[in-house]
Amino acid sequence: MTGAGISAESGVPTFRGSGGFWEGRRAEDIASPAGFLRDPEMVWRWYRSRRAHLATVEPNAGHHALVRLERGVERFCLATQNVDRLHRRAGSRNVLEIHGDILASRCFRNCGAEPVEDPRAAVPRCSCGEMLRPAVVWFGEMLPVDLLEKAMAAAISSDVCLVVGTSGLVYPAAGFSAMARQAGAFVIDVNPEDTPHSAKADISLRGTAATVLPLLLEEIGIPEEPGRRAGV
Ligand code: OAD
Repeated sequence: MTGAGISAESGVPTFRGSGGFWEGRRAEDIASPAGFLRDPEMVWRWYRSRRAHLATVEPNAGHHALVRLERGVERFCLATQNVDRLHRRAGSRNVLEIHGDILASRCFRNCGAEPVEDPRAAVPRCSCGEMLRPAVVWFGEMLPVDLLEKAMAAAISSDVCLVVGTSGLVYPAAGFSAMARQAGAFVIDVNPEDTPHSAKADISLRGTAATVLPLLLEEIGIPEEPGRRAGV
């Protein structure tokens, strides 16, 4: 499971802490249905500026290490709270974007029409006339049930649960590692700081994702370039 910390070294700010997205802002003003209804233009401005910034960043060594891990093990599932697409861009395959995808939009009333977003409109509209909104999960909203079920199934059937770069404050994602551990998984926490996950983990690796994950892979014998070693 990953959180904002894995994208930090790509230049994407995390949410909490100094320099985080929520510093000096009320998260609920930007990331909740009520905040959106109060000021949809402001909310769209914020998401568009994040989208524009994401177009300038690249996956880092942490994302790439998880791609190699997926190729190197029998079963792998990546539940990410990130909406930045960097895991998919790096090449991860079995990715559950449980908080959505910031580059996609959908109808605020979920009418089901394919959204066609007018980039000139301050608040883009769906073909049904309703406002479009970014396709992310906001505070107070349910996670998509199918993704949540898949993530929980992966957690409880895993041998190892790797928790990378998340503050462990936002549920239900924050509960996955405890679920995995209760079901017998070995839990590894990767974070430069202590989090609620640390106490519940079997080991805590204190460092950044882009430094720790490549070292971890080396340690468990997954080489830098699997194709090369196999002579492909
Ligand atoms: P947070 O901003 O809450 O936490 C980021 C975590 O990453 C912290 O524990 C940092 O110590 C850690 N970190 C920072 N730099 C790192 C690095 N280079 N390598 C590894 N870890 C690093 O972000 P999330 O836990 O992802 O939800 O936040 C969870 C959810 O809260 C987000 O998905 C978002 C937010 O509000 C919604 O928008 C619904």
